[in-house]
Amino acid sequence: MKQHKQRRLAAVCMIVALGATLLISGCSNEPAPTTEGQKTPQTGSGQVDPALTPQTGEDGSKGDEQVDKLASVKSEAAMATTTEEHNGKSVVTNPESIYVVVNKQRSLPDGYEPTDLVEPNVKFSFSEAHEKRHMRKEAAAALEQLFASANESGIELNAVSGYRSFKRQQSLFSHYVDTQGQEYASRVSAVPGTSEHQTGLSIDVSSPSVSNELEQVFGDSKEGKWLAEHAHEAGFIIRYPEDGEAVTGYMYEPWHIRYVGVEAATAIYEQKTTLEQFLSE
Ligand code: DAL
Ligand code: ZN
Repeated sequence: MKQHKQRRLAAVCMIVALGATLLISGCSNEPAPTTEGQKTPQTGSGQVDPALTPQTGEDGSKGDEQVDKLASVKSEAAMATTTEEHNGKSVVTNPESIYVVVNKQRSLPDGYEPTDLVEPNVKFSFSEAHEKRHMRKEAAAALEQLFASANESGIELNAVSGYRSFKRQQSLFSHYVDTQGQEYASRVSAVPGTSEHQTGLSIDVSSPSVSNELEQVFGDSKEGKWLAEHAHEAGFIIRYPEDGEAVTGYMYEPWHIRYVGVEAATAIYEQKTTLEQFLSE
């Protein structure tokens, strides 16, 4: 009886040992271990270094599809290959792309107007008809999704200012220059032809809790905090983050969101980076 038990025990041990050997030698179909759990190195500025941040899915695994998609976005929309020189200005060659980077160094082509502007079905802070009620179709649908999700979380957002024509940007920029001076104006408002609002992919949003103002205090409100944490789920990024002025050229604008699609927005959110840094890697 005792001998019989010992034999059974020896057989079980052999099976266990064989299983462990197979696992170690890579015969299993399990995915390779991910870098999840490793400490993410930080840069001196407190920002996560994008190059050192692993892309992980919800379950912590590296999604091949997500990695492929991000790689193709980065190659298709790389900052280095998406401008042409025109009359001493760098003009973007991909104004219709949802990944277009428009900033102080990168203008839109003269006379650019998006061709698919629509009015999103969301609450606005004003009631009259106006060009600023519009966005490009894909961005407008994403905004509706974002507002619905805010609503489900008990967050009240209002749309304040979306599409802006060159002409309207001209009058806004001049107003800033006249009232606050050129230097300050250039930190908060874009020279006409270089505003993201002209792409139809950006919109300013605020909340009744801060009287729908476009002020930095919105970033401290529960609505502003919710927006910063959830905008990417609908494909938006906070385009001008706090401490981002050296890269983006503009002061912190917690109200200005830009549509780039869910994959890019999620990567930019997770890496705590900017559109410029993301597309120059
Ligand atoms: N306030 C942003 C930078 C714009 O004028 O487009
Ligand atoms: Zn804005």
